[in-house]
Amino acid sequence: MTTRLDGRVAIVTGAGAGLGRAHALLLAQQGAKVVVNDLGGAVNGVGGDQAAADRVVAEIKAAGGEAAPNYDSVETPEGGAGIVETALKRFGRLDVLINNAGILRDKSFAKMELADFEKVLKVHLFGTAYCTKAAWPVMVEQKYGRVVVTTSVAGTSGNFGQANYAAAKLGLVGFMNALAIEGQKNNVLINAVSPGANTRMTEGLVGDAITAFMGPENVSPAVAWLASEACNVTGTIITAAAGGFGRLHYFETAGVQFDPRQPITVDMFAERFADIYGLDTVVPSTAGPAGYIDQRLKSASLI
Ligand code: NAI
Repeated sequence: MTTRLDGRVAIVTGAGAGLGRAHALLLAQQGAKVVVNDLGGAVNGVGGDQAAADRVVAEIKAAGGEAAPNYDSVETPEGGAGIVETALKRFGRLDVLINNAGILRDKSFAKMELADFEKVLKVHLFGTAYCTKAAWPVMVEQKYGRVVVTTSVAGTSGNFGQANYAAAKLGLVGFMNALAIEGQKNNVLINAVSPGANTRMTEGLVGDAITAFMGPENVSPAVAWLASEACNVTGTIITAAAGGFGRLHYFETAGVQFDPRQPITVDMFAERFADIYGLDTVVPSTAGPAGYIDQRLKSASLI
């Protein structure tokens, strides 16, 4: 099974900058025809500029690849349908959907306006659902498809000031888990990438010691593999940052078993809580935001 994408058509949402741009460039280099979607707004989702998508299309063409721009917002069902329509009209098929578009509206939950909570869910979670909704029947019908969603350590571990973003990002994991089951029999596979990279979204957040390693192009190889025929997994989360890659997986402790035929009391639960809660036999999947990045780089003596 090849990692090449010759003859394949891919959509990358939010591909006008940052990670999406790097994904689009690599997919094109791997042989895919790429729909470069971006509405070209600010990091908080305000405004729009077609130049963002146009620039990346020009870059792909200059490198000898094929690409078409799309300026729809992922935030509406019509936007999602329009993006898929561009792939079908311009290139005649659709094999790969990389759901990457995203914004930030950070604030502590006490101070967060509900409008900012809703807006962030709308772009990340609903945006992914709208694009996937339009792509899904095409992929199921042709019995082939590769979908990637973009989650975050903010969702899997939490982060101060990102209740909206964390909810959206872990919501995407639930979305993926369900679609992984629904898509498998038709060879439509869906996985998540949990990236870390220097972009305008993370400006000033990445520690000095690792900044030099955090180019978005160090994330894209994972996305390009998940987008290829070679990908033989579904419903998994792949972490990718600074040249380090891993699999993030949830676990359950061995816990305790009471006799369910007898009444189970609160006191019984309280007495055994340490056995239910303790992580003696399992290792937490991350050490919190950016923790795993530092750990890997340190163990390779890179920082
Ligand atoms: P970025 O701000 O550089 O790129 C996001 C792109 O999405 C922008 O070009 C923007 O115009 C576009 N976009 C925003 N709303 C859109 C909409 N409604 N429709 C179409 N396009 C839209 O940010 P970055 O860092 O490249 O983020 C890409 C994805 O990776 C996001 O989903 C983000 O949440 C996620 N992520 C990034 C991390 C990082 O370390 N940079 C860490 C974890 C997740």
